[in-house]
Amino acid sequence: MRAVSVIKFGGSLTKNKDAQKKFIKELAEISKNNKIILVHGGGPEINNLLSRLNIESKFVNGLRYTDEQTLEAVEMALSGKVNKMLMAELINCGVRAVGISARDGAIAVCDVKQELGFVGEPTKIDISLIETLINGGFFPVISSVGMAKDTHALNINADTLATNIAIAFKADKLIFLTDVAGVLDKDKKTIREIKVSEVDELIKNEVITGGMIPKINSCKKAVEEGVQEVLIVDGVSGIKNLNGTVIKN
Ligand SMILES: Nc1ncnc2c1ncn2[C@@H]1O[C@H](COP(=O)(O)OP(=O)(O)OP(=O)(O)O)[C@@H](O)[C@H]1O
Ligand SMILES: [Mg+2]
Repeated sequence: MRAVSVIKFGGSLTKNKDAQKKFIKELAEISKNNKIILVHGGGPEINNLLSRLNIESKFVNGLRYTDEQTLEAVEMALSGKVNKMLMAELINCGVRAVGISARDGAIAVCDVKQELGFVGEPTKIDISLIETLINGGFFPVISSVGMAKDTHALNINADTLATNIAIAFKADKLIFLTDVAGVLDKDKKTIREIKVSEVDELIKNEVITGGMIPKINSCKKAVEEGVQEVLIVDGVSGIKNLNGTVIKN
């Protein structure tokens, strides 16, 4: 089973309900003729829940510092709220969507990135559950919560997870939808094409900061591992009219 596309829906887009609606509608249409795996984050929903619980949000190079309490909130927001909302909206558009996390079926087993608390770096991706769903005619919607070897939950950056799943599936397309029109230069203009050899310099010069760091590093890895088409695009423009940055060799 090949010719799979992985689409990562940025949690950043959950703030924009119109963009989300348009995305779901387009995705439902495209999924009729294409095998798609949807991976999502949920930054704003996690931040919302943390502030309601009076827990501070902390980031290191665009990655969330995740202590035990934060991890609980991450799992509730991602696998509970955002995942079920996307799944339900897809079902509402006639798609047989199933919402799972990367902890289900041990999809993503991770090493712990100690310096970030309960944050996982996937070391083993088991695609059999996802394959079973696709072969059964279901559409997998996957939240970025994985597990440690001892089965403890771990927070995975959703860009990292989408990339690892795309590589494991030998996907031909990996598209990151986010709340900006791709990677922007210092004048806030979209950089239409970035070569993997240029990525480190863009981070070093602080053109790319925050949440764009794990995203561009994920793109670099995907290209290096043979994913043909890797894009960071504006979620407001949707997935039919791709508007953003292509990352190439
Ligand atoms: N050069 C850059 N070009 C574009 N965005 C940048 C750049 N540098 C930093 N950013 C930031 O990266 C953000 C996108 O990453 P962020 O992690 O916030 O969103 P996401 O990955 O779509 O959502 P989530 O992490 O919740 O899944 C942008 O909103 C912007 O603030
Ligand atoms: Mg992000």
